[in-house]
Amino acid sequence: IPTIKAALLGAGTVGGGVYKLVQRQKDELPYKAGANVEISRILVRNTSKHREGIPDELLTDDWKSIVNDPEIKIVIELMGGIEPARTYLLEAMRAGKQVITANKDLLAEYGDELMEAVTENHCDMLYEASVGGGIPIIHPLKQCLEGNDLTEVMGIVNGTTNYILSKMTGEGMDYAEALAQATELGYAEADPTADVEGYDAGRKIAIMASIAFHTRVKFEDVYTEGITKITAADIRYASEFGYVIKLLGVAREQEDGVEVRVHPMLIPATHPLATVNDAFNAVFVHGDAVDDAMFMGRGAGEFPTASAVMGDLIDAVRNLIQGCSGRIGCSCYKKKHIKPMEQ
Ligand code: NAP
Ligand code: HSE
Repeated sequence: IPTIKAALLGAGTVGGGVYKLVQRQKDELPYKAGANVEISRILVRNTSKHREGIPDELLTDDWKSIVNDPEIKIVIELMGGIEPARTYLLEAMRAGKQVITANKDLLAEYGDELMEAVTENHCDMLYEASVGGGIPIIHPLKQCLEGNDLTEVMGIVNGTTNYILSKMTGEGMDYAEALAQATELGYAEADPTADVEGYDAGRKIAIMASIAFHTRVKFEDVYTEGITKITAADIRYASEFGYVIKLLGVAREQEDGVEVRVHPMLIPATHPLATVNDAFNAVFVHGDAVDDAMFMGRGAGEFPTASAVMGDLIDAVRNLIQGCSGRIGCSCYKKKHIKPMEQ
């Protein structure tokens, strides 16, 4: 049985989870992927910090030792942020490696450039973990639902804000305490402003809308409003009238263009989305053939997110074993009118 070597860029919440999951799945991977998988290097900033469950000798702060190592066939970017993640992914593709990322900031901003690099370098870039944590949603949109004309994608796509709102609603918890807990649990971004201001959900809805509508929606096209102005009194009044407040991302294709927005909404307490609590996410999709479909699960956190990355890793290994350069679908976009949304 062959062994495929991969490198992790990042050993934080998600990177640590992926390393541990690869070890946990060690004996299963030859059956699932057709090869053994070895994480042979892990890029971090601070190599002297010990990370529970990760051998210190795998840590490096030298990117060149990864990108120039011909034995490393897969690079898994779990650092976050735009730079150096963008440069590293482009260099990895040019070096003939398959790449995996969970980085929605990067995809929502530089998705075009990365997709062009995929085509130019005959490689693949998989990014299931970039939206919805452990929920399978990118692959369903790119593949399973491709036979539809999709007209709507909407739902709860940020675990941190859903955690905060559901703790404020269900337990009367204070906003600051709920945010501190979400950070402690590894749900929040390095800078949680992206979560609470709706930027993270905006990036995710831009990624999903781009795939679903075969167009290019960038983060700047998305109207975003977060949850920082929601008070305990708002939540109480909503409840008195039989509603809950949720931060929703909505993307709709209408006759006059594609509309993409993120903002808090009042939802009847009996609606299925009202019962999606903690860091769970839920995405509704409407297509002309499938009708309505809903995907729900843990939208953030170490192992749920690692689960999505592992699925991509197994796909990438299968492709390498079968000598297939990439399984990516068509990355051609139609130019569609994106409705300007005033902030
Ligand atoms: P994190 O806990 O902050 O970990 C980031 C890791 O990347 C750290 O190990 C850090 O090294 C390393 N790193 C950052 N910048 C680096 C650089 N310039 N050079 C080398 N190493 C660098 O982040 P995370 O929560 O795991 O998130 C990682 C990515 O997954 C982000 O794109 C995030 O949006 C995405 N994501 C996260 C979740 C989640 O639930 N957390 C879910 C879905 C997607 P040091 O440890 O040495 O500082
Ligand atoms: N900060 C993100 C969230 C992580 O809370 O949903 C998952 O993408």
